[in-house]
Amino acid sequence: MDAIKNVAIVGASGDLGRRVLNALIKSGTFNVTVVKRASSSASFPDSVVVRTADLSSVESVTAAFEGQDAVVSTIGIEAVLGQSVLVEAAVAANVKRFLPSDFGCDMDNPKAGPLPVFGYKTAIHKALRDAAAAKPDFTYSLVCNGAFLDWGLEKNFLLNWMDSKPKLYDGGNNLFSATTLDTIGQAVVGVLKHPKETKNRFVYVKDIDVSQIQLLNIAKKVNPGKTYEEPIPFDTAALETSAYESLSKGQVTQEAMYSFLFRAIFGPPEYGARFTKTDNELLGVKGMTEADLEALFKSLNHGPK
Ligand SMILES: NC(=O)c1ccc[n+]([C@@H]2O[C@H](COP(=O)([O-])OP(=O)(O)OC[C@H]3O[C@@H](n4cnc5c(N)ncnc54)[C@H](OP(=O)(O)O)[C@@H]3O)[C@@H](O)[C@H]2O)c1
Repeated sequence: MDAIKNVAIVGASGDLGRRVLNALIKSGTFNVTVVKRASSSASFPDSVVVRTADLSSVESVTAAFEGQDAVVSTIGIEAVLGQSVLVEAAVAANVKRFLPSDFGCDMDNPKAGPLPVFGYKTAIHKALRDAAAAKPDFTYSLVCNGAFLDWGLEKNFLLNWMDSKPKLYDGGNNLFSATTLDTIGQAVVGVLKHPKETKNRFVYVKDIDVSQIQLLNIAKKVNPGKTYEEPIPFDTAALETSAYESLSKGQVTQEAMYSFLFRAIFGPPEYGARFTKTDNELLGVKGMTEADLEALFKSLNHGPK
């Protein structure tokens, strides 16, 4: 496969998209085009070409993808299923590599993959496999980075360490893989620099394996003098059962979707949240030490009030 030179990114104004865009620009390797919605008021650096498209129209997106070797989608979760339009357009525009907006859990894992919270993403995987089978010049890579690390701490999501009562899932000792947004950007660049080695497969990257208890211990260390109360325990098996009950009653709630997510991230090892293999070396990712993690906490440093 020829080297990838022209790269389009869709969803570049999002939390992840901004960092992936920066990494693409910083690599100095690609001509970068941002494809954004007409309704988007986001602005981008002068070094990138900006095209506007109607993301619900194959014709409009095909025109925007014209001349691109690769498309990276970092589109928000509400728009994930709509990526079928992007896939169809990429095929029509002779794009060679498509990276969908995955960027999370290992959906190749037999326990995590079928969880309903990943239904839209796995539907796009099927569309990509079908497209690649029909047109072998069209290829894809599925980036698995585990939990967003810096984002997950900033949002109080991986551990609500900014509150005084931490929520611990399954005792908080299960390890999960986590990656900062900048490292994910680096991984995307690595995939595009190694199209042959990353063709039509899941690609794994992580900065660190960590547990909620480890996060809590670091939060305590960087916030001496602050008091955390007794943690609130959650059982991810019970959360999963009750989420399926909601769905069986036709209640597709955000709470149910979060419950599936907590099962996938904080649940037992068979859900594959801790990656046992990675492509870090291929992608040029060196990973993080516990000292780096502590420094990350300090840079965020909003312990309990
Ligand atoms: N692993 C984790 O812990 C974790 C955490 C959060 C998110 N994620 C994943 O990372 C990916 C990106 O998420 P994000 O939170 O960075 O995305 P986001 O900020 O919610 O949205 C990214 C961009 O998508 C574009 N977009 C196009 N159509 C849209 C629509 N109908 N509704 C909303 N946005 C639309 C917008 O860009 P324009 O305005 O430029 O068109 C928007 O800025 C998703 O796949 C998400 O599931 C993973």
